[in-house]
Amino acid sequence: MAASIIKLVRKLYPSNSLLSYNPVFKVAGNAIANLLGAPFPEFRDLPPNHLRVRVGVGTKIVNNHAHHLQIGSQFWIECFARGYLTASADIMEIGCGCGRIAAHLKADYFSGTYLGIDIDPEMIDYCRAHFPAPKFVFALSPHKSSTYHSGELSSPDCELFTIAQPESRDFVFSTSLFTHLLENEVAFYLQQSFRALRPKGMAVMSFFCMESVEMGKPWTFSHRAGNAFVDDERYPEAAVAYGTASMVEMAKEAGFSEVAVSGRRVQSFLIARK
Ligand SMILES: C[S@@+](CC[C@H](N)C(=O)[O-])C[C@H]1O[C@@H](n2cnc3c(N)ncnc32)[C@H](O)[C@@H]1O
Repeated sequence: MAASIIKLVRKLYPSNSLLSYNPVFKVAGNAIANLLGAPFPEFRDLPPNHLRVRVGVGTKIVNNHAHHLQIGSQFWIECFARGYLTASADIMEIGCGCGRIAAHLKADYFSGTYLGIDIDPEMIDYCRAHFPAPKFVFALSPHKSSTYHSGELSSPDCELFTIAQPESRDFVFSTSLFTHLLENEVAFYLQQSFRALRPKGMAVMSFFCMESVEMGKPWTFSHRAGNAFVDDERYPEAAVAYGTASMVEMAKEAGFSEVAVSGRRVQSFLIARK
């Protein structure tokens, strides 16, 4: 019974992000999640449930509080431990969502700066209201997506969009963004990242890698869209995967010299140095 309900919801909403914009889900889901989180003071400052669902919670559509809080910690531990950045770095995140990964940088140890980019005005407004400026700055990208709502900017804005000053950043990253981007946008953001990085700066981008991702749980990536593999032809950006070779080639074409892929069962990482 529960499995067939989940199947039906998945047919209507092939990704949690699409579900998170439904007004009934938003009101009911937020109410239930608030009740579940009420006894725990550490959950009180989290973004509202529908924004947590929008940035990814798997099947935990109302009971995701702890998952949301802890998800960025492993990313930062690995990046600092491997020396990809220091605690005084100028950082840029593309597809920052409601600041789930950036929230870890609010801690005292971080003395650098952070620039977050997203296409979703509700997420950008949330971040601007909940992160201290000028250390944290957020900008709206004019790009469009079939699974995330975007602002109403015209296509010339899209072509003119440059996301940061040249050579102004030490570290550029994205988590669960390339998993929603078709080839042109991956290439665009890799070029912009290369431009924004200082010499020797690092880019770390998570993506679904065809050679490493565990198939059938739940993705199959059985359709082609150019060099990309997509799960659902109606909503190609709901889940997108790439082969190692095409991801490495796109990074090299953007100008990166040292490029590697760290393969993982869920999201792999593209690791590239300018
Ligand atoms: C799965 S969420 C991940 C958010 C965040 N990185 C995290 O891990 O919490 C993907 C994010 O990418 C944003 N996004 C989708 N397409 C984008 C694009 N073309 N340019 C910038 N952001 C985009 C969405 O609005 C959403 O906030």
